[in-house]
Amino acid sequence: MPENKFKQQIANCTAEAFKVILPELFREKADLYLFDSVWLYEKIEVPKKPDMGNFALPLFEIAKQIGKNPVEVNKILTRAENKFVAEHEEYAHLSFSAAGGFNNARIKTEALAEETLPQILELDEDYGSSEEGKGEKIVIDFSSPNIAKPFGVGHLRTTALGHSLYRIFDKLGYKSVGINHLGDWGTQFGKMIVAFRKWGRHDDLKNDAVLKLYDLYVKYHKEEEKDPVLADEARAAFKKLEMGEHDEAHLWNLFKEVSLDAFKETYKMLGIHFDYYTGESFYNDKMPAVVERLKKAGLTRISQDALIVDLDRFGLPPCIISKADGATLYATRDITGVLYRWETFRFRKALYVVGTAQRDHFKQVFKVIELLEEAENVPPEKRCSQNLEHIEFGWIKFNDKTMSTRKGNIILLDDVIEKAITLAREKIIEKNPDLDTIEQTARQIGIGAVLFADMSARRMKDINFDWDVVLNFEGETGPYLQYTHARLASLLRIYGKDVPVDINYSLLNRSEEHRVIDLLYKFPEVITDAARDYEPYLIGSYLLDLAGAFNKVYQRKDETGRIDKIISDDAELTSARMALVKAVKIVIQEGLYLMGIEAPDEM
Ligand code: ARG
Repeated sequence: MPENKFKQQIANCTAEAFKVILPELFREKADLYLFDSVWLYEKIEVPKKPDMGNFALPLFEIAKQIGKNPVEVNKILTRAENKFVAEHEEYAHLSFSAAGGFNNARIKTEALAEETLPQILELDEDYGSSEEGKGEKIVIDFSSPNIAKPFGVGHLRTTALGHSLYRIFDKLGYKSVGINHLGDWGTQFGKMIVAFRKWGRHDDLKNDAVLKLYDLYVKYHKEEEKDPVLADEARAAFKKLEMGEHDEAHLWNLFKEVSLDAFKETYKMLGIHFDYYTGESFYNDKMPAVVERLKKAGLTRISQDALIVDLDRFGLPPCIISKADGATLYATRDITGVLYRWETFRFRKALYVVGTAQRDHFKQVFKVIELLEEAENVPPEKRCSQNLEHIEFGWIKFNDKTMSTRKGNIILLDDVIEKAITLAREKIIEKNPDLDTIEQTARQIGIGAVLFADMSARRMKDINFDWDVVLNFEGETGPYLQYTHARLASLLRIYGKDVPVDINYSLLNRSEEHRVIDLLYKFPEVITDAARDYEPYLIGSYLLDLAGAFNKVYQRKDETGRIDKIISDDAELTSARMALVKAVKIVIQEGLYLMGIEAPDEM
């Protein structure tokens, strides 16, 4: 984490104030309680509410240590801090106030503006980047649809969240590694092979192949109920596939190819890139060694002819490693995957962006890894079990009868994207029929609406997806942010000159402008918070605040009730305001980028 100048100054003032007040509070043992600036720096937070100042130090822990009431300590501390500030010119831009147990610090806007705006204008999209993660890797397993099945909205959240986390960690200097753990192995492919041989044609694989394969799969299940012999055939086919027999492998490869082609189209549309497409089958030749390791470590036992790891004492169902016929399972491949990724990447964290429904699965997998490392006496610094995180999320509900479901209960992601683009196109044509780039802009806005909606709440919350809401240009939506961005871009076009960096920042002296500057200053901290909590939502909600604050500047009226225009005859004032405009534009664009969303200059 790069050192934050103002935060450091606040820590210094607070440390100095403690030096003064501790002897008063504790005549005899004052030197026992030394809260130095390094220690304080780590304790200082960014408050959630803007009226709490730019930084806040919670005093509860400190007060407890010195056995005093935090509110009392705060009163005395604040007085000492402000006295110290008054005596030291170089801290004149700081002021402290007490709010219950929180010691709040405010930075004068002019100082904030002078520090923040030139930084943003110079760094441009790199504002907020850091080297926090330098030399460390974050492995992100996300999206991971199943082949020969359509890519449904069920996989939208993992795709959107995972991709956003990928960009967020990259921004913080980590090397993000995106892995698509395709569901491309398992007994269902025996069924697929049987179904394809019985009812499929190679022509089916030319257009809409994935849908046609899925049709076959659905048909198979209907027929199997009438004719149980099919199940034996399917088992036999899977066995052959596992043994690598040519014909079965050939068909499976075809299924995989056509599925990947279709998935990659969707990813391309969304601007998503994966570093590796290593699906479940990738671990086939790596599993036997892992099964041996588990056995050798004494973790396994036989139960009903299956090889399992008993996890009863951890309140978890047993983890089945292989079945009576030797077939491995989803969990076996994930256990192998963890060990492979650890060997390959030595990650700082491995994230699994997968819905809540698989909570037990990941608990089991992570527990088995932990037990294995324990049993093998792996030295603590070489263990990975502490670095594994299941990034869970709630459901997304589509209350849309018109879309339901070409296939069983699956709403296709492609259909959702297409509908979003269509609706966005209609809106653009209504508002701005002369726009040259209607198609491209409709795509950016449609996709922006879908992605933003997906990250419009903390990830554990369920999302209700409602078309009227997500595409509302005035609501708390992606298109609203894109619209604000386009408005900023248009101001810059109208201004038509380069925005100078050395402007008179004291001219940005309205309360509306203060609010914008406070927020701009906060952006780097918001990114760190989003990474820490694995919550792209925090960036989205910050951007809504920022856009809202800017729109207040934009719509501000002067004493006579007329709009106080950003571009006026006063050149000095105009350039100061245009610096603000440009800075807000940069931050909105970059914030949207971190959420995987594009920001058109015109719409
Ligand atoms: N293919 C799985 C599904 O669609 C998701 C895989 C998630 N990743 C993993 N390593 N298990 O439910």
